[in-house]
Amino acid sequence: MPATKIQNAATNAATKEKVVLAYSGGLDTSVMVKWLQLEKGLDVVAICGNVGQDAEDLAWVEKKALRMGAVHSEALDMREEYAKEVLTKAIKANGLYEDTYPLLSALSRPLIVKHLVEIAHKMGASYIAHGCTGKGNDQVRFETCIHALDPSIKVLAPVREWDLLTREQEMEWAQEHGVPVPTTAAKPYSIDDNLWGRAIECGVLENPWNEPPADIWTMTVDPISAPDQPEEIVVGFEKGVPCSLNGKKMELLPLIVQLNKVCGAHGYGRIDMIEDRVVGIKSHECYECPASLALINMHHALETLCLDHDTLQYKHMIDQQWSKVVYDGLWYSQLKEALDSFCASTQAFVTGEVKAKLYKGSLTVTGRKSAYSLYDLSLATYGDGDSFDRSASKGFIDLHSLPSKTWSGKQGPAHKQAVPAPAGKKQAKLGYAVLSA
Ligand code: ARG
Repeated sequence: MPATKIQNAATNAATKEKVVLAYSGGLDTSVMVKWLQLEKGLDVVAICGNVGQDAEDLAWVEKKALRMGAVHSEALDMREEYAKEVLTKAIKANGLYEDTYPLLSALSRPLIVKHLVEIAHKMGASYIAHGCTGKGNDQVRFETCIHALDPSIKVLAPVREWDLLTREQEMEWAQEHGVPVPTTAAKPYSIDDNLWGRAIECGVLENPWNEPPADIWTMTVDPISAPDQPEEIVVGFEKGVPCSLNGKKMELLPLIVQLNKVCGAHGYGRIDMIEDRVVGIKSHECYECPASLALINMHHALETLCLDHDTLQYKHMIDQQWSKVVYDGLWYSQLKEALDSFCASTQAFVTGEVKAKLYKGSLTVTGRKSAYSLYDLSLATYGDGDSFDRSASKGFIDLHSLPSKTWSGKQGPAHKQAVPAPAGKKQAKLGYAVLSA
């Protein structure tokens, strides 16, 4: 192992420095618990963040780290905070990277990092370590967030450093050093999941022409075998935040958990996309995001009722920028805070209900209502009770079209029609003269 021992890491336990490790219980981070002790001479504090992943028993994960010599291990339940502090912002910003991906991995990392930094302070650790690869977005997010929260903390990224290049080498190292090795065959995909959905990459998905095999999906049924009857859902929003499901008041966390089940049962929420990573690589990614896509679509439907045209149009740009900033790991940044403030200020009247129908892989918004709706029937109606002053339209159109009219006569179609085509030259389409220089 070529890794250098950290200076001053004495063998005397009392003076050993500490590292807080973002621990998942999987092979990589389990090897890391031992490796950080042996190769870096550090005391390891293993922290597993529960953000709603479909993980094995997290108490077991805690024990596993302790068995490998961690001085402290904890599985922290971050679900409530994830929903309240993070996902509310994602909904208000209709957070979709490249207009498609609900950012589930990008949203969980900043919260996990916040806890790792707090624990590092509490336990006097000068290092934080993570198990991300050197090609992905998550290393960028982890480290950027750590640097933003406490620039004095040093980061260790063992996967970028060690020479365990294949799973076999890792398994061999694990066996030699008493790290329990998985007894089941390696999963063919790389998975990350939490309340906001599930990401699946690698394996046969590396070829972007390959249709995702049926076995990658676990949160959503195949739309072909989804129920033949559509199901209606109604979500209530209060200042842009979901607050009820089918008329029943609910906190955001249980609402998301339930919506994942309801929408997943109708095969809704599958995404297959080519995505642009921060480090410049295009990758083929598949996601299952039943609740997140449903809530974002329904929230946006309510915004179309409660926000005026200019705000909606401008906010779309802000939403896209918010999504990029968050994707790029800049959760703790000046721009992200400013974008959050913009979004929050637009949500003051985004209160009401949206209904939608789930049917064989689709969700269709079928209604929206709000006490603050800007939809005015007396203006919109073609029936009785019309209050719109049609006589004002003519003057409006005269002024609205004035720039087009001026342009047309000087440079555009009216001007070109007025200029005769030179002899021998053909008239172009639409009768425009072909003007020779
Ligand atoms: N591409 C997504 C992102 O960067 C998901 C990455 C999740 N990681 C995984 N192991 N599948 O946010």
